[in-house]
Amino acid sequence: MKTRDWVTFTLNGVVKEVRGEWIFKTLSDYLRYERRLTGTKVVCAEGDCGACTVLRSPVGLGSAKPRFEAINSCIALVGQMDGSALVTIEGLGTLDRMNPVQESMMKSHGSQCGYCTPGFVVAMTWMLEKGKLVDERAVKNHTTGNLCRCTGYQPIVEAGLQAGKLRDQDPKAFESQTTLKRYLPGTQKKELEKAVKKPVQIVLKEDPLGLGLRYFYAPTTLKELAWVRKKYPNSTILGASTDLGVVFNKGKRDLRHLVSLHLIQELYAVKKTPKGLAVGARVTLSDLRRAFEKEGANALAQSLDLFASPQIKNSATLSGNIANASPIGDTPPVLLAMGADVLVLRSKTGKQEWIPLDRFFLGYRKTALKPGDVLLKTRIPLPKKGEYFQFFKNSQRKDLDISCVSCAVWSKADRSAVRIAFGGVAATPYRAKAIEKELALKKGQKTWSLPQLQSAMKTLQDQIQPVTDLRGSTAYRRILAEGILRKILNEIPTS
Ligand SMILES: Cc1cc2nc3c(=O)[nH]c(=O)nc-3n(C[C@H](O)[C@H](O)[C@H](O)COP(=O)(O)OP(=O)(O)OC[C@H]3O[C@@H](n4cnc5c(N)ncnc54)[C@H](O)[C@@H]3O)c2cc1C
Ligand code: FES
Ligand code: FES
Repeated sequence: MKTRDWVTFTLNGVVKEVRGEWIFKTLSDYLRYERRLTGTKVVCAEGDCGACTVLRSPVGLGSAKPRFEAINSCIALVGQMDGSALVTIEGLGTLDRMNPVQESMMKSHGSQCGYCTPGFVVAMTWMLEKGKLVDERAVKNHTTGNLCRCTGYQPIVEAGLQAGKLRDQDPKAFESQTTLKRYLPGTQKKELEKAVKKPVQIVLKEDPLGLGLRYFYAPTTLKELAWVRKKYPNSTILGASTDLGVVFNKGKRDLRHLVSLHLIQELYAVKKTPKGLAVGARVTLSDLRRAFEKEGANALAQSLDLFASPQIKNSATLSGNIANASPIGDTPPVLLAMGADVLVLRSKTGKQEWIPLDRFFLGYRKTALKPGDVLLKTRIPLPKKGEYFQFFKNSQRKDLDISCVSCAVWSKADRSAVRIAFGGVAATPYRAKAIEKELALKKGQKTWSLPQLQSAMKTLQDQIQPVTDLRGSTAYRRILAEGILRKILNEIPTS
């Protein structure tokens, strides 16, 4: 098998090939220290503030057309940028002309100390290039992943609105200057498309810290994936590193033995099957939201609106959220309530196995994945006519916050079947089967009786074991869990 010992991407239109040490470092460090593109700032290094925002479009990966989206470069690894087109703040505007967002930021006094400014400009450029209506809501939604400590935000929102007006005054001129037009001409696209057909195998024996071998593998087929995971069962699967990048930057986890799935084309697919939507391991949460919307599964699409920020959702995968197995992860309760299952590649046998998600979470951060296994797909049944779904997330602030308690409920409108799942009330995402049993209707019964509901709530309190942490006390979580469940059950329409 012919492999590459380098990764490749375009950076503001110039093709780069990167080898060695840099593969294992963050994109923001590479931009700032290797390429001297210091417009990209790093403030939190945790994906929270957006100062490091850059634009990224996959090229030749998956079937989708190239599309630039805003991502956080501080928690992305350079190795993962393989097969991407990247644009930084330095690539927006030209030497003699600012882009509409830069111009409006200046005129609206949207910048004071300036540290957050490049991130806001990049995020709002992404908004403009989507070609949709720019109003106050759009500006705020596209900048929920950006923090500013100086301006009080109003001048920035004003700048976004003014930029929208500039775009709409001369749409043709704007269109001719978009990042896609400027930075993805045919030749570079072809070069990346050709490169991503070859697997990556980078092995570094020299280590300045004397810690031994480091490797980065990116197979192009499931067969190669099974081979590499069998050889290195303790390697780390790299999704988009929105979880891994944070713990890496905090020095809590080394990322030295990496297997990335980004070159396996079939893992980018979202396919409708008789048993639900089959979502590949490389599908991002933004892609998933679009797929839900396309299928008319609006309640499922909306369940993703309170997940992190646009920058995170543009890169984070659904599989990463499941495999991470956080008891306060947002998608597991949704998936449990929908009765989802996951397809796992067993590295020992090379076989694939469907596992119902309610048998996947075994203990705190412990899953049914054995060393070397890989989560390949998630299959999500979509609500049908006469079925109801609702997700409720409680967190300290609306945007970009992890939940304290979350609850998802799927039910038939006639209440003849119900599935209930929680986040934040146990060591794992929790499917409340005992409560579902209590809520089973007897023959002729049209809805739940008061004693039945009271008994279900008592069972809930008996079963859950919430902890006290900075997001909420045990007592508070108990009250929340019961309150949210009562609210959702109460709101299920009768037909
Ligand atoms: C600022 C910020 C805000 C966030 N907000 C939220 C939020 O609101 N709600 C929420 O639930 N989460 C949130 N997260 C957490 C994170 O974004 C999600 O968990 C995300 O879905 C992880 O996906 P990833 O592709 O980045 O995974 P990675 O970080 O790449 O991986 C996470 C873990 O899963 C493993 N893994 C990844 N893919 C596979 C696979 N296919 N097979 C086996 N193992 C795999 C990795 O080895 C790793 O252990 C937030 C993170 C940040 C930085
Ligand atoms: S530096 Fe704050 S999100 Fe990257
Ligand atoms: S201008 Fe100073 S942080 Fe925004």
